[in-house]
Amino acid sequence: MNIRSKVSAICYYQYILIFLVMSLFISGCHKVKNKVSYTIGFSQCTGSDLWRRTMLDEMKTELSLHPGAEFIYSDAQGSSKRQVAQVAKMLDQGIDLLIISPNEAQPLTPIVESAYEKGIPVIVIDRKTASSLYTAYVGADNYEIGKMAGQYIGSMAKGPINVIEVMGLPGSSPAIERDRGFVDGIKRFSNVHLINKVYGDWLKNNAQTELFKIKDQLSAVNAVFAHNDVMAAGTRRVLDSFNLPKKVKVIGVDALPGNDGGIKMVDNKEIDATLLYPTGGKEAIITAFQILNKEQFFRDNILQSVVIDSANVRLMELQWRKINSQQNDIVRQQKLLKEQDEIYKDQQSVLNIIVISLVLAIVFGGLAFYWLMENRKINRSLEAKNDEILHQRNRLIEMSSMAEAATEARLNFFTNVSHEFRTPLTLMLAPIQDFLSNENHSEIATRNFKMIQQNALRLLKLVNQLIDYRKIEYEKQSLNASANNIVEFLKEIIDSFRLIAKNNHISLEFFTPKKEIIVWFDTNMLDKVFFNLISNAFKFTSESGQVKVTLRADNDDFVEIEIKDNGVGINPEDVSKIFNQFYQAENAPITGSGIGLSLSKEIVEIHQGTIEVKSKKWAGTTFIVSLPLGDKHLKINEKSGNHEEWLDLNSRSQIYLADLEKVVEQPQKDLLSKPKELTILIVEDNTDLLHYLVEKFSVHYEVDSEENGNNALLKAIELVPDLIISDVLLPGQSGKQLTEKLKSDVRTSHIPIILLTAQGSLENQISGIESKADLYITKPFNFDYLLASVHNLINNRILLKEHFTNDISLIEKIPTSKNIDKKFLNDFVGIVEQNLSNEKFSVDDICKIVGVSRIQLYRKVKALMGCNIADYILNRRLLKAKHLLNNGNLTIAEITYRIGFANPNYFATVFKAKYGCTPSEFKRNKIEDS
Ligand code: FRU
Repeated sequence: MNIRSKVSAICYYQYILIFLVMSLFISGCHKVKNKVSYTIGFSQCTGSDLWRRTMLDEMKTELSLHPGAEFIYSDAQGSSKRQVAQVAKMLDQGIDLLIISPNEAQPLTPIVESAYEKGIPVIVIDRKTASSLYTAYVGADNYEIGKMAGQYIGSMAKGPINVIEVMGLPGSSPAIERDRGFVDGIKRFSNVHLINKVYGDWLKNNAQTELFKIKDQLSAVNAVFAHNDVMAAGTRRVLDSFNLPKKVKVIGVDALPGNDGGIKMVDNKEIDATLLYPTGGKEAIITAFQILNKEQFFRDNILQSVVIDSANVRLMELQWRKINSQQNDIVRQQKLLKEQDEIYKDQQSVLNIIVISLVLAIVFGGLAFYWLMENRKINRSLEAKNDEILHQRNRLIEMSSMAEAATEARLNFFTNVSHEFRTPLTLMLAPIQDFLSNENHSEIATRNFKMIQQNALRLLKLVNQLIDYRKIEYEKQSLNASANNIVEFLKEIIDSFRLIAKNNHISLEFFTPKKEIIVWFDTNMLDKVFFNLISNAFKFTSESGQVKVTLRADNDDFVEIEIKDNGVGINPEDVSKIFNQFYQAENAPITGSGIGLSLSKEIVEIHQGTIEVKSKKWAGTTFIVSLPLGDKHLKINEKSGNHEEWLDLNSRSQIYLADLEKVVEQPQKDLLSKPKELTILIVEDNTDLLHYLVEKFSVHYEVDSEENGNNALLKAIELVPDLIISDVLLPGQSGKQLTEKLKSDVRTSHIPIILLTAQGSLENQISGIESKADLYITKPFNFDYLLASVHNLINNRILLKEHFTNDISLIEKIPTSKNIDKKFLNDFVGIVEQNLSNEKFSVDDICKIVGVSRIQLYRKVKALMGCNIADYILNRRLLKAKHLLNNGNLTIAEITYRIGFANPNYFATVFKAKYGCTPSEFKRNKIEDS
């Protein structure tokens, strides 16, 4: 695992951990949230009186046991319309259950029904609606209460009595039911007369007002049944205001505990009795949770009632106090519990935080430890790598200094050898020059001597360049600059190329803005730059091309000399490398050593100038040499006191011109000489060598030549020569590529190929043979050896041909390396055999099937089988005829058609010419023989 992946693994674990902790935290929160489950809405018809407040308190006490529940409370203040609106709002809020004490039965019925029908459970408490569409009812039986009141009054009566009923709100169910019960309760007592009924609307004041309205009847009344204690208290007050002589009994309903409650009223004798009417607050909440929790519940929860009068009021009060104190205890305990719960929750939160922190501390501590360990490991491995790199660097430095020393030693050696070469070369050149000055020599001798001179000059140029290079690069030769007219200097150099330009029909032009421009330069060095650049321009420019030299002096700082040709140009990938030491562009004409441009650059640079090149393939090349003006850039020791002459420029030009001169003219074909039977193709880009080889081989063979690999490929396919001699390094495609292509093409695969090269290493030879060349000969070669090799390869081919022609089965003996030839021969023989009976079968048919031209097919068959195709086909037909005559009972006429002859007479003539007897004679002899 590398460093980066370790770090990302750690980050990954970190993310997982943080995710887990967050999930725990969120799920904890979620659990707490789950408890907040139900929303209960309670719509109260009126909330201001004690009874209703007691109901609400009871509810809240019970709700405190369900801490998660939400409770929404609304008070309609005795208005049915308001109550309808409040319930609708609650339903919109999304309550889970509705508790309602309807102000009046009818007006509240539709909204309660719609809530119920929507699926919201409805608990009706105390008062009812006019419908049975509700989930549960909680409250006392008001009919029973009314009845109990009637019976109580009846049982107390001793003689006839008059009774008045003070009723609740008309339309509210308790008022209706209590009235009904009361009327029924007094029915049994014939002495009890209900003399009037008034509506007090459950309110004290209203009850008083209504009683005042019937004050005339009050003197005759013995008992009053008020539907609740507050109206009973009001009744008592009205009765007292009249100071009636007799004590009128007043009975109320509700029996609430506390100072303002009915029990106290009974105790105080304010009223005579009260009927317990429990609020049902607690029962309503219990039922609500049973419904919400889908537990069992009672639909009708009827609360019990009892009459409280002077007989049991004390007991009731005591009980109530006890209950009240117990209630208070419960409230206190609940408060305590709540506080404990808060403390517990706080502690739990603290505990959670501590646990999480502990886990995080352990995990991060572990991670930190892991990181520390990993870091140590990484550091150790980095240190090891560092050591290794350091070691490698030292090794590289060592090797590079060794390589530098080796290069220097090699260069020293070359320089020394070069120095040694100079004397013999000079000694060779002098007598050659003498010889050539004498005009009385044969043309051939002159040509050969010129070739020797030219190549000796080339050698001299190379040797000189190597020595110069060595001087500048390694010995840091300094300048010996003097002030010279560069215009004149360039003109002289350019003029020495005029003759070459003329002979090659190349236009050579020189442009200069002035006749004199003084530049400080070393005449012995700078000439080599321009000779080299101009001779290069010539080398790569074909006949009728252009070479332009332009001098520019546009400013006071430097002059520019531009050498421009419209020759073949340089491949873009080679442009940046051409100034490299010993660099030779691939596929470039191989005439240089790769040192000339590198040397030129060195020379320009020690003049503190620059040299650059621009080139476009097939459009030409431009070199721009820029030289500083003045002498400020020169050190004192770089300046020569004297004006240097450049007298030997002309003699120096010779060695550069040698590369360009064509000594050996293209040998003219001797039109009178007899054409040779076999053709060879020679591919060589060195014109002299090519002409030499063409001339030598023309004695024995028809010779064709090419200088470029691409052209050679086309020519070989077109010509199908009997043998090819090719150089390895060629412009276009290399000799190896050429060989590979020819050997894998059915049209040319049979042609023996000899590769010639100066690259004589074993690997090069092997790679040459691998390209399927038949022979690999290194330069310099002995011509006789080459000639013998050519003869030998051609003879081998002839021997092979003889085999094939004599026996087709020998095709199998063709070496497997010649698979293409074997396949060709198999195809060819197969096609012929299949068509022997086809009278119209022709060479064109074979060409179409095999996919070669007529001439290619002729040459291929001739090369491989040594015979002409028509002869071969005829031969096969006659052989088949012989076979048919020998075996089977076919008539001569039948055989004639079987072997594709148009008529038996012609068949007989041909057969006789070949075998010396007619087919019938042959058959007869055969029969006789047998
Ligand atoms: C309170 C009250 C009680 C009575 C009940 C009837 O508002 O008037 O006194 O018993 O309502 O619904």
